Amino acid sequence: MRSIFKVVIYVIFPLILSCFYRYVTYVQSIDPFASFDRAPFNITDISRLIHSNEAKTQVVLITGASSGLGKSSVKFLAQGFAQGLNDESTSELNIIMACRNMKKCENVRKEILSEVTPFAQDNMHRFMNTLKLLPMKLDLEKSTSIKMFVEELETSLETMGDTKVNVLMNNAGVMGISHQIVEETNTEIQMHVNHLGHFRLTSYLIKKQLFHSKHARVVNVSSLAAILPQFLQLEDINFEHGYLAKIKEYLPTLASIIYYGASKRANLYFTHSLHEKYSIQGIESVAAHPGYSRTSIMFTGWSWAPQFIKEVMAQNTIASMHSDDGALMQLRAALDLDTVKSGDYIVPMWFTAGRAVNVGKVFGKDSMYIHHFVKSLDWEWKRAEDLWSWSKIKIVQ
Ligand SMILES: *[C@@H]1O[C@H](CO)[C@@H](O)[C@H](O)[C@H]1NC(C)=O
Ligand SMILES: *[C@@H]1O[C@H](CO)[C@@H](O)[C@H](O)[C@H]1NC(C)=O
Repeated sequence: MRSIFKVVIYVIFPLILSCFYRYVTYVQSIDPFASFDRAPFNITDISRLIHSNEAKTQVVLITGASSGLGKSSVKFLAQGFAQGLNDESTSELNIIMACRNMKKCENVRKEILSEVTPFAQDNMHRFMNTLKLLPMKLDLEKSTSIKMFVEELETSLETMGDTKVNVLMNNAGVMGISHQIVEETNTEIQMHVNHLGHFRLTSYLIKKQLFHSKHARVVNVSSLAAILPQFLQLEDINFEHGYLAKIKEYLPTLASIIYYGASKRANLYFTHSLHEKYSIQGIESVAAHPGYSRTSIMFTGWSWAPQFIKEVMAQNTIASMHSDDGALMQLRAALDLDTVKSGDYIVPMWFTAGRAVNVGKVFGKDSMYIHHFVKSLDWEWKRAEDLWSWSKIKIVQ
């Protein structure tokens, strides 16, 4: 017993401390926002970045905009826009709120507008004319819905004066729903919606040339759950063989969590591939993960969990963040053109919570985030490539 204690004190503890130290010094060396001398990325930065953007008419498209991180993102963008308005401002901001439930979407739109309008103070008239929140119907589970959405979007962009999408925030996600194979792609539902749905949407926008030609950015919202690359097996995407099949049979709840992680790992691969393939064409690709944010997904998703567990999850404020704070990662990924580049990954400094920091490339020899401990292996790059081909085949099926 005593010797175990000694091992912990003299070996494991110092090891953890030194890893931590290396991580902090690394992040601080590559990212000004990681420094404690500076305020975290905040609403002031959001406001500054929106109003300093070269594109005078900006279009930001957010999937899953009616709750959680999507809703918080819309709110921050609108508030930042309102706060930065003055007599000289010429920017226009169009936020397209893509939602599954239009009624909810419309209510959220009203709620946000009433919340942020006071920030426009003396510039009310300008505010009313230059900020638009547009709810649009999108169900990522259905290819027909995605197709219709993109066609409607094309028309809307034309009426906005022939503008293009500057930011696509692939935010929507389902989590923890019980096992189900979606016929359309013959894929488990979380993978089908979170990965293939966004893949289809993004590919379609690229094909229709709806991204801004000079500056466009795609932000993928990944998750802490993406930590284990082993769970994303293209050869066995629905866990029909080996130990994953056993887990599915005996521990379906755990299987559901693993599926979710796999779909979020796919988001990281997707970011990497999109960066590799399209950054030359001006479509940048940045990934973000919100750490442990207290959002409604924890209540709607985990149908199996007893109420008290959900309460504890939602009340735990030590390791978690308010969903507004969680949204800062994806907002920085979307807006920060100065210190965030295509292929980068924005995460909370302390893994589950903390300031939005840039840990460098999603996959790369020099990246050093906890998610990256297994990253710079060549097979991960190859797997990203394989996932791309696999997804392409899936979406034409
Ligand atoms: C946000 O950060 C800036 C520094 O960039 C700081 O001056 C400001 O006080 C911060 N604002 C809030 C609301 O924390
Ligand atoms: C986002 O995720 C989708 C689906 O996983 C992927 O196809 C796309 O390349 C990703 N884009 C970025 C910027 O991460």
